[in-house]
Amino acid sequence: MTDKTPSIHGEWSSRFAFILAATGSAVGLGNIWKFPYITGQNGGGAFVMVYLICVAAIGIPIMIAEIMLGRRGRQSPINTMQTLAAEARVDPRWGYLGWMGMIAGFLILAYYSVIAGWAMAYIFKAFFGGFFGTDGGEVKEMFDNLMASPIQQIFWHTVFMFITMQVVMRGVKGGLEKAVRFLMPALFVILIILVAYAMASGSYPQGIHFLFSPDFSKINADAVLTAMGHAFFTLSLGMGAIMVYGSYLPGHVSIAKTTFFIAGADTAVALLAGIAIFPLVFANQLEVATGPGLIFQTLPLAFGHMSGGWLFGVLFFVLLFFAALTSSISLIEPAVAWLVENKNIARQKACVWAGTACWGLGVAVVFSFNIWSGFKIFDKNLFELLDYLTANLMLPLGGLCIAVFAGWMMKQVHAEQELELPAQGFQAWQFLIKYVAPAAVFIVFLHVLGVL
Ligand code: PHE
Repeated sequence: MTDKTPSIHGEWSSRFAFILAATGSAVGLGNIWKFPYITGQNGGGAFVMVYLICVAAIGIPIMIAEIMLGRRGRQSPINTMQTLAAEARVDPRWGYLGWMGMIAGFLILAYYSVIAGWAMAYIFKAFFGGFFGTDGGEVKEMFDNLMASPIQQIFWHTVFMFITMQVVMRGVKGGLEKAVRFLMPALFVILIILVAYAMASGSYPQGIHFLFSPDFSKINADAVLTAMGHAFFTLSLGMGAIMVYGSYLPGHVSIAKTTFFIAGADTAVALLAGIAIFPLVFANQLEVATGPGLIFQTLPLAFGHMSGGWLFGVLFFVLLFFAALTSSISLIEPAVAWLVENKNIARQKACVWAGTACWGLGVAVVFSFNIWSGFKIFDKNLFELLDYLTANLMLPLGGLCIAVFAGWMMKQVHAEQELELPAQGFQAWQFLIKYVAPAAVFIVFLHVLGVL
């Protein structure tokens, strides 16, 4: 049993509140915006299968480990890792893991906020009837216009970042718990409505075939890395978001059961989004590999033609905005918690600093879609570079370290105490966290480096 003093930042009011917050963190743009577009870029079925395997074999055990470390450490990820390293009598440099995560969260939020800004812009486009009766060319133009306008994007990015920081300022319990309780189910319902529409679109079988019939000739080491990286990204793993949420978790809560729920809900949302979108892509002869604009160029077509489309369109983008918000707050929470603990500044001030810096980087990301689009490093613009660096490299590396720490460094009796699993369950987790997860990440890295 863990009878520890609660975190200084507050605690969730119940296990349910934690589930909601962690699910809110996991379900976000990653599921609805990113999963469909990277699936399109990487050939469909085989990519989806690798992603699902990564969620089950790597993501779930690492999520259990990350929540466990957080709850045992009870502080920001950096200080949690230092405390736990001291407890395990291992090198204090394990604290660097917290640092890398904090930086990763910061870099992700910079572009995440820009994309969430697109979703906000689309709420208004939907509201003013902008989708009504449109065809493929018109929705593309609408999206291209937004991309070409730094002013509009900066405006929405600023609004989104401001709202995020307002919520983070109020601390873990504030409005967040209440909001997520109602928003998550609503998002689910609207996705199901979209799936029903896709089923009637005539190209449903083609969409399903694309998503679920694996053709392994379509993927290479880089696609496998993207699928694995996305498993981390979509579950919010490898950077301390789930760890910091775990640190607000009261003792005596089953971490494993909670994890299964979160991962299940997250995967379901991603698959539903894919099932809703690809039939529309085929029905309208759109390009599967469109990239980051994919949902913005397909869903408006559905809303523009279905009955009740105005309402569903507005609702969908509002919910997407909320899904993004509940994720973005967890991206910055590790940094804010650390500033409060170590720099001895008030939560509010910490939010202003962290938020402003992140906003600045986001402005540069906006430019990477227009005036700086020609500026490339390793053939990637700033958005692509940040995405690759964080999702494909930093998160898996963070996850690898978490697995090694939980499986090899910390005393296994401590892990057993925290997890309170039946013997077989614990052994299964131990096997995955000690061998399977680290080896998988390592092998994929070697492949990408061309060593294997
Ligand atoms: N999981 C979130 C999503 O899928 C993104 C995220 C990544 C949030 C890492 C927190 C930490 O949109």
